[in-house]
Amino acid sequence: MRIRKFAFVLAAGVLGLAPAKAQEQVEVLHWWTAGGEAAALSVLKDNLAKQGVTWKDMPVAGGSGVQAMTALRARVTAGTPPTAAQLLGFNLRDWGSQGFAANLDDVAKANDWEKLVPEPLKAFSKDAGHWVAVPVNIHSTNWLWINKAALDKSGLQPPKTLDEFIAMLDAFKGQGITALAHGGSPWQDTTLWEAVVLSIGGMDFYRKAVLQLDPAALKSDTMRKAFDTMTKLRGYFDKGFSGRDWNLSTAMVIKGEAGAQEMGDWAKGEFIGAKKTPDQDFVCIRFPGTQGNVLFNADQFMMFKLGAKDIPAQHKMAAAVLDTSFQVAFNKVKGSAPARLGVSDAEFDACGKKGIKDVAEAIAAGTMVGSLAHGYAQPDSIKNAFFDVVTQHLNGQLTTDQALTRLPAAIAAAK
Ligand code: BGC
Repeated sequence: MRIRKFAFVLAAGVLGLAPAKAQEQVEVLHWWTAGGEAAALSVLKDNLAKQGVTWKDMPVAGGSGVQAMTALRARVTAGTPPTAAQLLGFNLRDWGSQGFAANLDDVAKANDWEKLVPEPLKAFSKDAGHWVAVPVNIHSTNWLWINKAALDKSGLQPPKTLDEFIAMLDAFKGQGITALAHGGSPWQDTTLWEAVVLSIGGMDFYRKAVLQLDPAALKSDTMRKAFDTMTKLRGYFDKGFSGRDWNLSTAMVIKGEAGAQEMGDWAKGEFIGAKKTPDQDFVCIRFPGTQGNVLFNADQFMMFKLGAKDIPAQHKMAAAVLDTSFQVAFNKVKGSAPARLGVSDAEFDACGKKGIKDVAEAIAAGTMVGSLAHGYAQPDSIKNAFFDVVTQHLNGQLTTDQALTRLPAAIAAAK
């Protein structure tokens, strides 16, 4: 078989049958390796294949891209950046300001991005007034995913407040299942923490503490309540939570081994992949007490500066990503809302419709702000200072008193 293929290639070469033009190709670094994520990514691969662009995959497993960022740094440092890389928030700014990003102004102009991309995303897609990245989606982190059968068994309604949430977790505990599925890692701990902070303090407090880093807010009674709530929630985890991947926790909810999970809306991709239906098999709601507010993280592809031969494929990929039909096909699988305004929600399921509505309302009301855990609130140095304190506290290495002293100090040192 192999010999025959070799003979054909040789004959084709001799007879001049080899394609005259090198195949257009994109090499894409990303961390979409969970089932739902990979399914969404194939929508992009297929779209580009139809345009004659081949896909060289560079997947780096690890939720929220922690490991992917290390891999990207290594590639850029070695002088061999990929064609495009999945990036979030302040990481886009880092690479953009260091001069590694290709300029996408022409594609942006031809496709009206200025008008179509919402301001909170655009603030990260551009560097010094030039487009350097194309947003794929609008995810948000303040969601709760509930197993419908467990909820029905409890006789309770989906919780609207933290107290109702705790009552539901108690009911799940009573059913003998893990009440709250959680994967212990700094980004997952902080994804839960930021929802708790928003629920307890509201949007003004989130802004003060997380976006403005106000020292008084960081050690306030409201923050104390948030840390104490984290300790309480830890009592609803199972013993094996430490180090578990987010999608394995989602699988526990899907199978009914756990009652609920707090996680960004990429979790929906796992439910859909397991052929589960919203409101029938699972329930998606805003994390109790955070209704009306959206903590967003938008995946964006930054194109890296390469040779002239790579530009056509980069431009094709960039244009494809914000194309309306792609936005629908991709985001309904990924769990996110489209990254361009005004896309119809007709093809989205109940959770997708809710996400799209929440995002539109929050943008209009000015209550869509960046997620800390996913890089849209603070640069890495400060984000990591939060991560350390939140995780050490959740793991019992810091008391709440210590966390309240340590947090402002760690942030001041990281500034
Ligand atoms: C990304 C999502 C991804 C999730 C889990 C988030 O930071 O924005 O696209 O599905 O991490 O890996």
